[in-house]
Amino acid sequence: MSKNIIFYFSGTGNSRNVAKDIAAAIEDCELISMGKQHNLSGIYQRIGFVYPVYGGGMPGVVERFIQTLDLSSNANSYIFAVCTSGSGSADGLTNISKIIGGKGGKLSYAESIRCFSNYVGLYAMGSDVENKAKAQSQATKQVVKDIQICAVKSPAKNSPLALIHGPFIKSLAKKDKGFHVNEACNSCATCCKVCPVGNIKMLDGKPDFLHHCEQCMACIQWCPKKAINFKNKTQDRGRYHHPDITIGEMINEQNDSCFEKSKR
Ligand SMILES: Cc1cc2nc3c(=O)[nH]c(=O)nc-3n(C[C@H](O)[C@H](O)[C@H](O)COP(=O)(O)O)c2cc1C
Ligand code: SF4
Ligand code: SF4
Repeated sequence: MSKNIIFYFSGTGNSRNVAKDIAAAIEDCELISMGKQHNLSGIYQRIGFVYPVYGGGMPGVVERFIQTLDLSSNANSYIFAVCTSGSGSADGLTNISKIIGGKGGKLSYAESIRCFSNYVGLYAMGSDVENKAKAQSQATKQVVKDIQICAVKSPAKNSPLALIHGPFIKSLAKKDKGFHVNEACNSCATCCKVCPVGNIKMLDGKPDFLHHCEQCMACIQWCPKKAINFKNKTQDRGRYHHPDITIGEMINEQNDSCFEKSKR
């Protein structure tokens, strides 16, 4: 068993990259996706959560994951949370602090890191990928130093956007009804393998969306043929993923069932 464990959720690699940098620095650390429930057996020195901000708060899957994680054997562990966001907002850290407190643990450290904004269904992708990646890497260095020494930091205040978080998150699951796949699709199944919550099955060589979507944008952003679009919004928009993260690191090891028949 490792000494440390980091749970992460990531659509386009920003959070994955932050989690990876922290894991490398604290050493002896497991990196586990929050896409599927995890049974926390054993006692850890440090337990971390790294995830993006969605609509002024935590992604729904992250909240559900932490709500059901058994922390009872780890009440004395150093627990930290790092969120990544496009605006630098720390939304979602207050909530995780409450959830962990309610489970008898203590969130000792909470920090946010400003990254590239990836919500391609909502806006065009910026052109400053390299600069944003550099700034992210720079900001992560301080977070890494803090976590190495088990520093204590309270969550910053939520932004006003946090007020819309509940209804926003509720609206996401069926938004995949707006996804469609064009003739450029070569049936490679990358979209299915990269979906962190198993919301895609391959049906007659094409992705079929199962309506428990988190809107993480991974399928749209990582499709090598740019064959997935959201309504009529994304056809002329660029695609993004963190430049230092490979598709291999994002492939969801739980998605070995891409070619099973879709069950609705
Ligand atoms: C559904 C969705 C909602 C988002 N909401 C916010 C937000 O409220 N505030 C913000 O600053 N960034 C927001 N973003 C941008 C992401 O938080 C940001 O790009 C993050 O670093 C992406 O992390 P990832 O690459 O690990 O998926 C949103 C992105 C998505 C896909
Ligand atoms: S990733 Fe793109 S090309 Fe590959 S199966 Fe999915 S939609 Fe088709
Ligand atoms: S279907 Fe696409 S947007 Fe929805 S959770 Fe899966 S990868 Fe993310």
